[in-house]
Amino acid sequence: MSQKIDNTFEEIISFCKRRGFVYPSSEIYGGFSAVYDYGPYGVELKNAIQQTWWQNMVHEREEVVGLDSAIFMSPKVWEASGHVGGFSDPLAECKKCHTRSRVDHLLEDVGVFADEKMTEEEINKIFADNKDKIKCPKCNSSDFTEAKSFNLLVKSNLGNFTGDWDQEPTYLRGETCQGIYVNFKNILDSTRVKIPFGIAQVGKAFRNEITARQFIFRTREFEQMEFQYFVKPEDSDKEYKRWKKERWEFYVKELGLSEKNLKWHQHENLVFYAKDAWDIEFNFPFGFKELEGVHNRSDYDLTQHAKHSGCDLSYRDPQSGEKYTPWIVETSVGLNRMLLAVICDAYTKEKVDDGERIVLKLKKTLAPVKVAVFPLLKNKPELVAKAKELFDNLKTKWVCEFDDNGNVGKRYRRQDEIGTPYCVTVDFESLEDNAVTVRDRDTMRQERIKIDELEKYFEEKLTN
Ligand code: GAP
Repeated sequence: MSQKIDNTFEEIISFCKRRGFVYPSSEIYGGFSAVYDYGPYGVELKNAIQQTWWQNMVHEREEVVGLDSAIFMSPKVWEASGHVGGFSDPLAECKKCHTRSRVDHLLEDVGVFADEKMTEEEINKIFADNKDKIKCPKCNSSDFTEAKSFNLLVKSNLGNFTGDWDQEPTYLRGETCQGIYVNFKNILDSTRVKIPFGIAQVGKAFRNEITARQFIFRTREFEQMEFQYFVKPEDSDKEYKRWKKERWEFYVKELGLSEKNLKWHQHENLVFYAKDAWDIEFNFPFGFKELEGVHNRSDYDLTQHAKHSGCDLSYRDPQSGEKYTPWIVETSVGLNRMLLAVICDAYTKEKVDDGERIVLKLKKTLAPVKVAVFPLLKNKPELVAKAKELFDNLKTKWVCEFDDNGNVGKRYRRQDEIGTPYCVTVDFESLEDNAVTVRDRDTMRQERIKIDELEKYFEEKLTN
């Protein structure tokens, strides 16, 4: 019998490094704040999550197409979108230890929720009203500077040879969806999409986050998976409801997350262009927090870009001839944040008969390694040769790992930790009966399968 034991966030962070999922960036130089690298198992898991999303959002839908737009865009895009003027967080510095914090987060910690539309003056008023309750997360002092708006766009000197970055900055994109809006007309003109239709994109985004805490939950470089669905204005409520349902089902059915770790949260204070906004929150070890946003963005984005670019971004209905600016339903999630949720949901510590094991109970289709192949003994060439042959065959179909280190029990524990659903052992009997022992990660049960039937066996088990 196995029994789940509670785990802490620190334990998961150290697990991610120890087992080759996530490393701090530039670690040999002391690290680089709020940036992370993905190790051999991390990159496989990240790719599997991304492919699952792409399959579900693009390939399985006739009316959705993909896009890969550039990270650098004309600075005019960010002016039109409102990011140059308004993409900022309120920042205050602790006068004692000089730690900088987001004022909306400090207020949230004491149960006060700031409105995103508030001016610097208004924020400072509620900040002052709650001064006695608010503590610096580092030194506990309540002595802060006034809140100042801090723009989150990351500036670069691309194509600017004057040496003055602030004069004509180019930005690293702060969200991927702007690339979708500026290609709306290209996609209409070059494909056969008709409203309603969607455009999906996965790519890097950059934000100069003030407080980048909580490991890969909030980082300065991250990947977004964004989806924009263009609809008739009068259909936006109906489509919005549909996409909320679709996205919830994705987490439960496609990612296999436990439903008790998910909940909806409606935004009370909407950004000025949004007509409705709900987040899917996940129960991270530090509490329920935003995982994905589902937004009804109205016609704001296309209207803004039409106005600033001078390009007509309206749509003409091919049947009725009616001309209008489409409304947009957006679903937006950080791939890295999704990976963290998947790991937290799957990370399990269990008491088992011979002690304790850590096992990553990932949905099998997401596992970084699908099958591990072992020869029972390392020093028996006939076992090693047969196991190698089997490995060479299986690796053309699934991500496989060959392991002949230590004893089989230790190899099982290693594979359990990285979430490998199946381990295959070639033993002396295999040389006689051409069958192998297949061990299941979750049940730890073993069964004997003919080598000739293995491919079919895994096809059934490892297909969604
Ligand atoms: N286009 C809409 C948009 O970007 P957002 O709420 O700012 O909306 C959407 O971001 C999602 O992107 C979030 O729900 C989160 O999953 C992810 N995200 C945002 N900032 C992030 C950061 N600094 N680090 C990691 N993920 C982030």
